[in-house]
Amino acid sequence: MKLRKASLLVAGALASVCLGYLLGRSGVRPDSPPPPAPAETPRAEPGEVVAIESRRSGRVVTVEEGESIQKAVTAARPGDTIRVRPGTYRETVYIDKDDVTLTGSIEAGRWPVLDGEGIRNDAILYSGNGITIENFRIVHYKGNGVMGQAGNNFVIRHNVIHDSGVYGIFPQFGKNGLVTHNVLSGIADAAIYIGMSDHIHVANNEVFESVAGIEIENSRHVIVENNHAHDNTAGILVFITPGLPIKTTYDVIVRNNFVQDNNHPNFGAAGSIVAGVPAGTGILVMAADDVVIEGNLIEGNDNIGIVVTDHGHATNLTLDPESEPNSDRIAILENLMLDNGNHPIPEVKALMLTRLSDRGPDVLRVGESRESCILHPERLRSYGVDEFPPCRVTTTAGTRTYLLPEPVAPRPIAAAERGKQVYFAICAGCHAYNVRMIGPPTQVIQALYLEDPQGIADYAARPVKKRPDYPEMPPQDHLDPETRRAVAEYMLRVTE
Ligand code: HEC
Repeated sequence: MKLRKASLLVAGALASVCLGYLLGRSGVRPDSPPPPAPAETPRAEPGEVVAIESRRSGRVVTVEEGESIQKAVTAARPGDTIRVRPGTYRETVYIDKDDVTLTGSIEAGRWPVLDGEGIRNDAILYSGNGITIENFRIVHYKGNGVMGQAGNNFVIRHNVIHDSGVYGIFPQFGKNGLVTHNVLSGIADAAIYIGMSDHIHVANNEVFESVAGIEIENSRHVIVENNHAHDNTAGILVFITPGLPIKTTYDVIVRNNFVQDNNHPNFGAAGSIVAGVPAGTGILVMAADDVVIEGNLIEGNDNIGIVVTDHGHATNLTLDPESEPNSDRIAILENLMLDNGNHPIPEVKALMLTRLSDRGPDVLRVGESRESCILHPERLRSYGVDEFPPCRVTTTAGTRTYLLPEPVAPRPIAAAERGKQVYFAICAGCHAYNVRMIGPPTQVIQALYLEDPQGIADYAARPVKKRPDYPEMPPQDHLDPETRRAVAEYMLRVTE
């Protein structure tokens, strides 16, 4: 896999064919003239989306309507492409090998559709590295549309995901991944949720009618650009959830997005973190550091355009002593702010009355935010940013992507680390230590199970509905019994 344009790969292949042909005729002699210098590496055009090409064997397996995608995945070898013809597929697909491309074949406007029928939990789960998932319609699942579990070097593109549970596209604990040209709606937590991940590019997606449009959580080196986040409860969120095994969020660029009319009533699970986010929020930064907000059109968000806050001002949170709670070094560069704050919540309204305004602000800062800056504050209705100096940097254009030029190695799976790794990759998507996420806090589970890891392992394999105010937990029976036991033992040992 290489971070290269397809045309470059084709040119490279042609060049080696020609070279082979020449060498074949003349033989390799010590005094042979050196081969022609390779053409200068072409640079991607500005604005072009970068793709990570996965290693391909060239073998293509086709799945027809009526057949099982999972069967094809189970039989696949690393490097294979699985091509899925249009039609409806009622299943969960789990990819636990590397370098598999799952590609929908769109024919005369007909798509392959994965339909959860309101009874299945997940559409596609992957734990392999170098996975590409593209060209699927995914509807009516209860848990996740596409969830990555510690897979690196992934590409998730050109999918349409509607009404599919708590997370639409959710790479968890992954490195070096591209999420692009997806359309997501009707997701009860985050449409696109980048969780505990590094070096991620989220571009050209449309997210709407979900609670959170795009969420960058406990992740580093992420660019969120050219997306359209509209009619969600909140458009784009960059924050730290306390109580997760990875404790930081930093180096995030949010630029050139359209963030409009995010006024949808909040339908997040009661008590969860996103359920505490007020409707009408454009962009929210909480406890994240080194975040640049640039070139966005932020319009018609009824409460606040951009809010910069800390853990102390959030509802539903328990502080994590290992997570620094403030949003430091936030740079608000030039953004176009229009018509925000038409119906602020009472707390925001009260703050703004002190500024002689009865409307919500374009920009609000509450809680400490050291070394932050803002450009053209005089253009904005704001609260709490008067002491921010002008930013010395005026653009991030020099940073095209945080994706890495070479694929990163898969995470090592030492047997002793297996439980920890699976906890990070799967359970921490819904269980934080002392904070309610989708599932109850790990602390609560520890108190219930004390010295009984097998009890946890058995529950995870076949969960039963226990708490009326929580959703159902999806079964983890895709994990083998030893792995379930290992993760259960780790879950009992977690201390933060
Ligand atoms: C998609 C979200 C999600 C994921 C991923 C998840 N859980 Fe849960 N878990 C839940 C929810 C929701 C509940 C509460 C269910 C209820 O009370 O009906 C829960 C409850 C539990 C309980 C409490 C059972 C009891 O007796 O009260 C245990 C134990 C548990 N999960 C273990 C795990 C383990 C281990 C993993 C990882 C392998 C995991 N969970 C992954 C959502 C999740």
